[in-house]
Amino acid sequence: MTSQLELFDGFILGIETSCDETAAAVIRNGREVMSSVIASQVERHAPFGGVVPEIASRAHLELLQPSVEQAVTDAGLALGDLDAIAVTRGPGLAGALLVGLAGAKGLALALRIPLVGVNHLEGHLFSVLLERPDFTPPAVALIVSGGHTMLVHMADWGEYQVVGTTLDDAAGEAFDKIGRFLGMGFPGGPAIDQASRTGDADAYDLPRPMIDDGYDFSLSGLKTAVVLAVEAEERAGHQIVVDDMAASFQEAVVDVQVRKTLRVVDDLGVGRVLMGGGVAANSRLRDRMRDGCKAAGVECFASSTGLCTDNGAMIAAAGAYRLVVNGPSSLDIGVDPSLKDPFSLVTTGASTGNVAADSRLGS
Ligand code: KG4
Ligand code: ZN
Repeated sequence: MTSQLELFDGFILGIETSCDETAAAVIRNGREVMSSVIASQVERHAPFGGVVPEIASRAHLELLQPSVEQAVTDAGLALGDLDAIAVTRGPGLAGALLVGLAGAKGLALALRIPLVGVNHLEGHLFSVLLERPDFTPPAVALIVSGGHTMLVHMADWGEYQVVGTTLDDAAGEAFDKIGRFLGMGFPGGPAIDQASRTGDADAYDLPRPMIDDGYDFSLSGLKTAVVLAVEAEERAGHQIVVDDMAASFQEAVVDVQVRKTLRVVDDLGVGRVLMGGGVAANSRLRDRMRDGCKAAGVECFASSTGLCTDNGAMIAAAGAYRLVVNGPSSLDIGVDPSLKDPFSLVTTGASTGNVAADSRLGS
């Protein structure tokens, strides 16, 4: 039996600055999104082919205050109407997290309202509640983002055991590296998703690393296979068809993610799957997971794509839960770039990739 979910009753401002989106949102009673502002920094990082931490911190400094003001105005409120502030305190980039946390503390102090620090990944889980209030644990959650790939046994809200993780790259990281390698710009994930709609997923025969081997993931071998396939074509004087390669790569990633998620579902005898994180916005993953869940007789939950990628509403939603369960955070909490709590983690292994090929992809 799972416990009844109690959420903070009032207006919560959620602030998210863990990576390259400056996001602020206001939600009511833990479930109703009243506004959501996401100031993307993509154009600032794109020339470098990836997120540059120093640029991210400076951009957050510039964008945080206007984003918060916009979120409060869009909600039809004034700052004084807010009842609490939730903010991401980890995991993420230290400098980026610091900007959000410092801003949130200052505002909470000035407005004399509670502050609550939130784990970004718990935010990704709570995003589902904003659109699917019918979701209840127990469930198996697949969290796939730029920084994480995790299979989580979610026994209840707040009870998360990580049963599978990545031995090397996070899913979004691999999408971004392959996108960059194929000359598709940054971020690679949405570009590969788009290109795959016209690409042939059977055009290149790529491996499905560790597909029948436990719950952990590895993407090094797959990335290496893409590099080697492109090099083989180059040597033969041919050019690869980028859309076909994108689709073949995406299909391999999706195959492994769907198969492993359903294996955990089967092994644990759980009737629900939840998907969260930026890569859960991938159209092929969503379709294949829905089909797989249907065939297995389990329910599949995923937020709409705009709530899968980083946003302030999911942080406010997780904050609405944490405020009830843990109470307000102290004003002297710090950021934690590798925050684990409340996830209990399994240990990860070493990289299994081809170092020479990996060096063509960059870090
Ligand atoms: O959750 P998120 O917004 O930020 C982190 O917490 O990391 O995830 C960002 C990641 C990026 O790597 C981006 O390329 C990937 O999510 N992503 C996608 C798609 N949309 C975003 N990957 C594949 N297909 C998509 N449609
Ligand atoms: Zn995220």
